[in-house]
Amino acid sequence: MVVKLNQILGKPKKKLGRPGEPKGKPRKTIKPTVTPRRRWLEVRTARRPHRTGVMLVGWGGNNGTTLTAALLANRAGLRWETKEGERRADWLGSLTQSSTLRLGQDADGRDVWVPLADVVPLLRPDDLEVDGWDISGLDLAAAARRNRVLDVEVQRALEPELRRLRPRAAAFDCGFVAANQQERADHVLGGTRAQQVRQLREDIRDFKQGKSLDQVVVLWTANTERFADLRPGLNDTADNLLAAIERDESEVASSTLYAVAAILEGTLLDDFVNYFRYVQCTFINGSPQNTLVPGCLELAERHGTHVVGDDLKTGQTKLKSVLVDFLVGAGIKPTSIVSYNHLGNNDGKNLSAPHTFRSKEVGNPQHGLRILAVVSPSVVSAHVPDPLPLLAPAQITKRNVVDDVVESNSILYGPGERPDHVVVIKYVPYVGDSKRAMDEYSAEILFGGRQTFVVHNTCEDSLLAAPLLLDLVVLAEFCTRVGFRDAAAGPAEEYVPFHSVLALLSYLVKAPMVPRGPVVNSLFRQRTCIENMLRACVGLGPDSNMQLEHKLA
Ligand code: NAI
Repeated sequence: MVVKLNQILGKPKKKLGRPGEPKGKPRKTIKPTVTPRRRWLEVRTARRPHRTGVMLVGWGGNNGTTLTAALLANRAGLRWETKEGERRADWLGSLTQSSTLRLGQDADGRDVWVPLADVVPLLRPDDLEVDGWDISGLDLAAAARRNRVLDVEVQRALEPELRRLRPRAAAFDCGFVAANQQERADHVLGGTRAQQVRQLREDIRDFKQGKSLDQVVVLWTANTERFADLRPGLNDTADNLLAAIERDESEVASSTLYAVAAILEGTLLDDFVNYFRYVQCTFINGSPQNTLVPGCLELAERHGTHVVGDDLKTGQTKLKSVLVDFLVGAGIKPTSIVSYNHLGNNDGKNLSAPHTFRSKEVGNPQHGLRILAVVSPSVVSAHVPDPLPLLAPAQITKRNVVDDVVESNSILYGPGERPDHVVVIKYVPYVGDSKRAMDEYSAEILFGGRQTFVVHNTCEDSLLAAPLLLDLVVLAEFCTRVGFRDAAAGPAEEYVPFHSVLALLSYLVKAPMVPRGPVVNSLFRQRTCIENMLRACVGLGPDSNMQLEHKLA
């Protein structure tokens, strides 16, 4: 059946202008043709989660120590006294552990909600093993003390266990981070880049064997690096990247070495219990730099290894995508978004150098600019060449975190039109991990009116980030257990796994990497995608929210 939308809607009587558009400028007429097709897919999900371990790059940092403490505290059912009374370990802020999904309705028409983690068997946090690397040799108890995120009672209670955990020596090139990070770099690998990759691979294998794991997720939660130069012959293809590492090319970032090590360890394995093939290693980039250079992506595809990028989506960006989605969906036109942040943790200290700050502000140029204007930080350290002019202009697609929302409404925005979007970040040591984010949203309403929202958000950054890190690992593991095939193709047809670039995890990252098709930044669409995928795995259709059973006469 072919449905022509303009047959249903009727032809517009006269051409209308967009709000604020000069009179007489014709509005583009949209005449899509909709062709519904029915295709049955078989979705197969191995029920038993793999024995999984996470290796945190930057284990001794704020996020690394906080996630580790949360895993230990939850496993032990830790309770501690605070001035507000007793507190118990929990996973607040975790999509997989603390949120629910609407399954449907019971016979009385009441909604039935179930924990998201109960729809399909997901990896339990208590079963997750943890290990990692850091340029600082401090054990995790000392690192947690230095980081000043955890309540002192929690630190005391977990001290014996945290003290036993010591990061492995890290691959590190100070040229990619702020010079101020050199002070803590007392635990780094020597040798060439090729030797470092070999050592990182050895570390992954050692962890896997030591804990009898099926699978390892390597998760970069170390400092934001500057962009690596993207150059033909250097990192444009998998072979060129591997050759560049062998030549010890200085423009290969440390984060890319971890990614390459994880990808090379990610060979496919047959799981005879579940009759499944799965990849043994996944790499996730929790920071904004372009770790996953084109050669890295090609290598991942070659090995079938999953990769996820880029940058954790914690507070401000999440709220931004929700607010803009709401405004644009309501037919209100956001015209300017201005964000000021100040933070005083080591992440903020590292971002006080212009070249790392640039990664945070602009995002990975492989998926485009996220920010329209950039204001320099107050502290300027050693001069490093600005990497942006080195990029091919085609790689800069000028998209930002609200782009898909803006582009969804051609009534509000003309071609290429988007709100002004400015972000400022300042390093203020006093506030520590308690980040301040102040956002001003301006929007146009009826009769040229203006609506302005001002949002002030104060929050411990790492307490938001740690549950996200857990979700990334839990969902990444889940993705290795799912396969699809055309139901009509018959039993001889192989199940196709997810593409090596895992777009399903877009909800958790600021600048989602997708293998093809548009990037979705709208938080609700991203969440719905996860929900519907879990539903599909148990044979339930997507939640249409029509609720026709209550609406018909
Ligand atoms: P942090 O500075 O406390 O921790 C980073 C750790 O990485 C440090 O312990 C450092 O010694 C280590 N490190 C640096 N280079 C390394 C290397 N080459 N190999 C191994 N370890 C290395 O930073 P934090 O707050 O934990 O954040 C980590 C990353 O996550 C940053 O890039 C940050 O921008 C990003 N992020 C954090 C969010 C949050 O809410 N905390 C939100 C979004 C992104």
